[in-house]
Amino acid sequence: MNDDYGNFVEQFKRKTGIDLLLYKEAQMKRRLTSLRDKRGYTSFSSYFEDFQDNSTLFYELLDRMTINVSEFYRNRKRWEILEKKVLTHLLKGQTRLKVWSAACSTGEEPYTLAMILQKHLPARQIEIVATDIDRNVLKRAEMGVYTDSALKELPAEMKKKHFTYEGNQMYKISDNIKKCVTFKQHNLLADQYEKNCDLIVCRNVLIYFTEPAKKYVYHRFNESLKREGVFFVGSTEQIFSPDQYNFEYFDTFFYKKVI
Ligand SMILES: C[S@@+](CC[C@H](N)C(=O)[O-])C[C@H]1O[C@@H](n2cnc3c(N)ncnc32)[C@H](O)[C@@H]1O
Repeated sequence: MNDDYGNFVEQFKRKTGIDLLLYKEAQMKRRLTSLRDKRGYTSFSSYFEDFQDNSTLFYELLDRMTINVSEFYRNRKRWEILEKKVLTHLLKGQTRLKVWSAACSTGEEPYTLAMILQKHLPARQIEIVATDIDRNVLKRAEMGVYTDSALKELPAEMKKKHFTYEGNQMYKISDNIKKCVTFKQHNLLADQYEKNCDLIVCRNVLIYFTEPAKKYVYHRFNESLKREGVFFVGSTEQIFSPDQYNFEYFDTFFYKKVI
């Protein structure tokens, strides 16, 4: 790591609490450098200096750093397994569920969970905590308004039941779904973890983390789950040797806590 980028990483951590060293370096550096170049800076130090009195510049970089792409029912087949197999397992002997959607971005994932869970449980028995490091995406998640491209994988009957058309290809999610979800800011690499979760969904963020950072997260998630709880990962994020973290394979991209 050259000094210019190294110093920037330190300054950025002081300003935001986010440690860029815990993200894969080549990928992160490439993304941030291309934005810096686009804005006409030749060094990270001059770029960072201008953040002090230009918050738009700073938030643009933060946005580039976090990668917020999401959609409802992302990788639909997996959500079908969640509904048929994972929920059957979790609802054996209990009628309330606590679910954590970690790195939830603009809310498509926790709202997908709420729509599926409401087919099986009354809303008051569903608690979904949805977290992300980025406050801006959380504000958008709380608004619950989406373009139709975010809804393209959503089964038609669910779209009809849970959304109202707002015009301009925009859809608003119903209050009945919203009331199951609480949004909170949370950094997976620095903050305290939730407790007593039946299900943790954390998809499409661990791919950006270094191996030690990923291991840290797997251990913390294991502690956050109740016994027999399930961890659902993204479709390129299978865990090799899940037993190292006291998980066992449950289905493709699903792991069950064993201890
Ligand atoms: C690609 S989105 C994934 C959204 C959703 N889980 C999905 O699969 O559709 C990645 C999210 O991870 C969040 N993120 C990045 N680093 C994080 C961290 N250290 N702690 C919590 N969230 C983080 C980003 O802000 C972004 O919203």
